[in-house]
Amino acid sequence: MKTLLQNTLDDFESFIALNAPKIESFHPYYESALWEMVLGGGKRFRPQLLMTIVLAYAPHKIQCAFLPALAIEVLHTYSLIHDDLPSMDNASLRRGLKTLHTKYDEAGAILIGDALNTYAFYLLSQAKLKPKTKIKLVKILSKNGGIYGMVLGQALDCYFEEKKLPLSSLKTIHINKTAKLISASLQMGGAIANVDKKTLKTLKKLGILLGLFFQIRDDIIDSTQSEKEALKTTNNDTNKNSYVNLLGLEGARYELEKLKTKIDSKIKKLNTNSQEILNIILKKYLKEV
Ligand code: IPE
Ligand code: IPE
Ligand code: MG
Ligand code: MG
Ligand code: MG
Repeated sequence: MKTLLQNTLDDFESFIALNAPKIESFHPYYESALWEMVLGGGKRFRPQLLMTIVLAYAPHKIQCAFLPALAIEVLHTYSLIHDDLPSMDNASLRRGLKTLHTKYDEAGAILIGDALNTYAFYLLSQAKLKPKTKIKLVKILSKNGGIYGMVLGQALDCYFEEKKLPLSSLKTIHINKTAKLISASLQMGGAIANVDKKTLKTLKKLGILLGLFFQIRDDIIDSTQSEKEALKTTNNDTNKNSYVNLLGLEGARYELEKLKTKIDSKIKKLNTNSQEILNIILKKYLKEV
C-alpha cells in the first residue's frame, strides 16, 4: 500500500506540472505566477485524502481522480494566497517561497487567488467522469470551499482578531476555515468511488475531525516552529483566537489527544485498504508537534 500511495503521489506531482495553464498575454508575470504557488510544494494533504478513498474503494478510477484532486489543491492554494494578504494574515513566506503579494504586488496576488478559485471548477468540468458525478463534486467543493465553509471561517477568523472568543466559537471557526475543505476531500473521493450513503456519512464526519485536528496542530506549529521548519511565516497568531492562545500549549495538545481517539474509531468504520492508507498518511502529517 505504501508503494502504491507513493507511486500515485509521484504521478500526481507530474500531473500538476503538466497541467499548468497556458495563457498568451502581454502581462509580465500573470502566467508564471498563476502556477507558482500551486507548484510550490505543499504537503498535498487534501489530494492525498481524496485519492486514498479512490484507491481503497475503486482503484481502477484513480486516473480519473487526478483532475478533481488537482481542483481541490488549486482551490486550497487560492485560500492560502488570500490568507497571506496584508489585509488578512499579512505573511511573507508560504511553501518556502515569498508570498505572491510580496514578490509581485497585492492586486496581482488577489487576482491570482480569484483566478485559481474559478479554475478549480473548470478543472472539475474537464474530469473524465459521468456528468452526475461531476455535479456532485462541484456541489461538495463549492459548498465546503465557499460561503458555507472556508470563506465563512476566514471571515470570522479575521473579523474577530483581537476580540477574544469562547472555545465553542473558535471550534466553529476552525471547522469552517479548515475542516470543511478537508472533509470535502474525503467526500469527493467517496463520490468518485461511488461509495454507499453510510460510508459517505462516515467520510464526512471523519473529515471534520481530521480537519479540526489539522488546524489545532497548525495553531501549535505557529507558536512552536520557526519559519525555516514550517516553510511559512510563523508566530503570526499573536492577536488571533487560536487553540494555543485560548487553552495554552498543553491544553491544545490535550485537545489533539481527545480528537485522536475519535478519529481512530471513525477510521475503523472504513474498509481495510482505507484504514491502511489513511494510517500511513496520518502518521506522517498528524504526528506530534
Ligand atoms: C495550511 O494548509 C493552511 C491550513 C489550513 C492550516 P496546509 O498545511 O495543508 O498547507 P500546504 O498545502 O502544505 O502548503
Ligand atoms: C488558514 O489558517 C486557513 C485557510 C483557510 C487558508 P491559518 O491562517 O492558520 O493558516 P496558515 O498558518 O497561515 O497556513
Ligand atoms: Mg489565517
Ligand atoms: Mg495564515
Ligand atoms: Mg496557522
